[in-house]
Amino acid sequence: MRDFQYYTPTKVLFGRNTEEKTGALVKETGAKKVLIHYGTGSVIRTGLLDRVKASLEKEDIPYVLLGGVVPNPRLSKVYEGIAVCRKEKVDLILAVGGGSVIDSAKAIGYGALYDGDVWDFYCGKCKAKECLPIGVVLTLAATGSEMSSSSVITNEEGWLKRGYGSDLGRPKFAVMNPELTLTLPDYQTACGCTDILMHTMERYFTGEASMEITDSLAEGLMRTVMHNALLLKEKPYDYDARAEVMWAGSLSHNGLTGCGGDGGDWMPHKLEHELGGMFDVAHGAGLAAVWGSWARYVYRDGLTRFRSFALKVCGVKEEGSDEEIALKGILAMEQFYRAIGMPTNLRELGVEPTEDQLAEMARKCALGVGGAKGSVKVLREPDMLEILRMAL
Ligand code: NZQ
Ligand code: ZN
Repeated sequence: MRDFQYYTPTKVLFGRNTEEKTGALVKETGAKKVLIHYGTGSVIRTGLLDRVKASLEKEDIPYVLLGGVVPNPRLSKVYEGIAVCRKEKVDLILAVGGGSVIDSAKAIGYGALYDGDVWDFYCGKCKAKECLPIGVVLTLAATGSEMSSSSVITNEEGWLKRGYGSDLGRPKFAVMNPELTLTLPDYQTACGCTDILMHTMERYFTGEASMEITDSLAEGLMRTVMHNALLLKEKPYDYDARAEVMWAGSLSHNGLTGCGGDGGDWMPHKLEHELGGMFDVAHGAGLAAVWGSWARYVYRDGLTRFRSFALKVCGVKEEGSDEEIALKGILAMEQFYRAIGMPTNLRELGVEPTEDQLAEMARKCALGVGGAKGSVKVLREPDMLEILRMAL
């Protein structure tokens, strides 16, 4: 087991009606003026925004509103938020929504306290020294952004989707009421479950030999998410299944499932970010569409882990060679994706990139990771292109 730092400063309030405590949580932070940040309308339609506003009003906390965050959140909206925060002297940003809203809030938080262009952080030019405090009322179990250090923003100039990670951006608190996810379309629920699985898989599929406790947690988390994702397909209003998935989403990306590891592989994510940047696809669906091709390209370099994954997570029988077992695991995972309505290739995802577009994605991806990345297998631009071709 490698040395590690585990830092999860987010106070979590989990359960029914917890959004009513939002005002009290903001008050605890000492904030004097809040920016309520939200998406393209779901929180208005469900009445959640009104409930959150009422909760702030109950505590006499003034707020301003900024909605309109789209999936694959845009840099232009971040600039808008930075201007609002400065003009209104906002000292806490309350993200009410899914990962896109939370990520946009984090970017605004960095940018509001920085003299230069906030994109500097996302393109790797420099690191943020400060961030406005972030609070979250979560409406979609998926990205884990409610406890994670990362934020992913799309720059419309060049359609570059890039992530930035800093402990400064970890939310101060997260309100998680599983009931708030009952209004999700089935497709978004499935995308969320896929993303949650993938955050643990990215950390599980490494070149590391020994991290027994971390692996056990990871395997248990993945089994739980797969079981409940299938259950939600049949019973979308099952509170307990929603709750299991929601908590798994946070634990999957708050660092727990990577303790003692080498930081993980992350190439499926990097490839998906290019798909999201170029084709604006839902993140979870994009991940499912490339995962099988990535896995088939790299599994021989991580045979022990792919074998364990097949046996302990996918329920494959211990018959045949290690390679046969590993391949059965990859197949079982793809069957699971299909069972919850996720794509297993780009065509099923609804995009048909030309060879030029594939090459452009591979080029941008390689550039974004500084030339090479991966833990199971280090991938360079030609590998990335090959995986994208295999995913067609
Ligand atoms: O805009 P609204 O109207 O809110 O609709 C959203 C959106 O259309 C809708 N939605 C959310 N909650 C709902 C709801 N609809 C009905 N009822 C509800 N309760 O769902 C749609 C998708 O929302 P979005 O926030 O985009 O989804 P998600 O949470 O999956 O976030 C995806 C973004 O996060 C990034 C992804 O790349 C993508 O840009 N990621 C962020 C990470 C992080 N910060 O740690 C890690 C991830 O790997 C990921 O890259
Ligand atoms: Zn993800």
